Amino acid sequence: MSAASDFDIKDLQLAGAGLARIDWAFAQMPVLQQLCSCFENTQPLKGVRVSGCLHITTETANLARCLRAGGADVVLCASNPLSTQDDVAAALVKHFAIPVYAIRGEGRDTYYQHIDAVIAHCPVLTLDDGADLVGTLHRTESPLLKDMQGGTEETTTGVIRLRAMAADGALKFPVIAVNDANSKHLFDNRYGTGQSALDGIIRATNCLIAGSTFVVIGYGWCGKGLAMRAKGHGAMVVVCEVDPMRALEAAMDGFTVMPSVAAAQEADFMVTLTGDKHVIDRQHFDVMKDGCIIANSGHFDVEINVAVLEGMASGISYPRSEVAEYAMQDGRTVRLLCRGRLVNLAAAEGHPASVMDMSFSNQALSLVYLKDHHGQLSNAVHGVPAAIDSQVASMKLAAMGMSIDALTAEQSQYLRCWHQGT
Ligand code: NAI
Repeated sequence: MSAASDFDIKDLQLAGAGLARIDWAFAQMPVLQQLCSCFENTQPLKGVRVSGCLHITTETANLARCLRAGGADVVLCASNPLSTQDDVAAALVKHFAIPVYAIRGEGRDTYYQHIDAVIAHCPVLTLDDGADLVGTLHRTESPLLKDMQGGTEETTTGVIRLRAMAADGALKFPVIAVNDANSKHLFDNRYGTGQSALDGIIRATNCLIAGSTFVVIGYGWCGKGLAMRAKGHGAMVVVCEVDPMRALEAAMDGFTVMPSVAAAQEADFMVTLTGDKHVIDRQHFDVMKDGCIIANSGHFDVEINVAVLEGMASGISYPRSEVAEYAMQDGRTVRLLCRGRLVNLAAAEGHPASVMDMSFSNQALSLVYLKDHHGQLSNAVHGVPAAIDSQVASMKLAAMGMSIDALTAEQSQYLRCWHQGT
């Protein structure tokens, strides 16, 4: 296969290393592998132009490979300036002929130029992780909007934005919220973020988690995963929430629950996973324990108010590549990881391929669904069809070598019946 001719990446010579890592990940994505083989035969996306704004990782490369196998004409840009794996971008261009516009560490202007480049591909289907692609198409009132068949959204924050657009009557094509599939968020957000956020913190700092006070802010699916894994490492885990139901759940899961300003005074680590803005702010920096390590694993870099921290500090040093150490006026230090960008992708490699297998199989099948149902879906945010969600779970279970029981006819009937009592 000849290389893609148009692209903007760091260095094409990194392609060999990228290809090896893409293949390593593919071996751990058995559901996507099966879809890939099936797509090769059935060509469900033949000639369909697809633009994706996703983290450029080995797993995304395999999703693009699968769509390509199904006949799609795919191009990709990054959904975060710090999550791009430059070797993967190079391999996609060189070995899969997939145009990629993404360079790790790109500035804001380049980030949006790269989104413009995938829009110039004239997609009829989009893939988003954070809704920046769909958002840009709408903000610029792109003439493409009228011909769009649909889009998919990978993450909680993107789904929230798209729902807000739909509520305003602004959304101009149907979008499927892949995040909301059970076979996505119950596994990707929980076990994927749980493992990879801890992995990122450990790679960035090489600090011991055991015996530390580890504060998790936000006890959603991502926060639950991180709290569980930090506890497994021997940390004393504290959870901070704004939702009483989630806070209660954290308490009954065995975690200490307290307000975030109180937690900041005890924290060795403090991690945000809320999708919300300025969750760690001046009032936390004011009281934070000396040496506290702060990180974010929520989608955008708005969860930690970095500008305020910079304004409060008398100096800044960089003891490790992903650690910025802020000297506070009173002699304390505050250590920020990855400039407040999602730590699991900026300091580690994002979620393990095995869990992205399910998320991206939902993505691939949802794109085919959107194409097949073009003209039949309203311009709203739709769930992943239950049949797809359950197909992905069944395929994953089978790939893991597990089988389950089936209801007998008697049990099925009993579960549908309301006549029988004690
Ligand atoms: P979720 O909606 O299940 O949970 C978010 C939780 O944060 C909620 O319980 C909410 O009450 C809480 N929260 C909101 N504002 C808060 C505040 N000011 N203080 C304390 N708690 C607050 O969302 P989920 O799925 O856990 O996702 C969280 C974020 O992580 C989103 O931005 C999502 O897009 C992102 N995400 C990141 C991934 C990664 O690879 N790092 C993977 C998947 C999602």
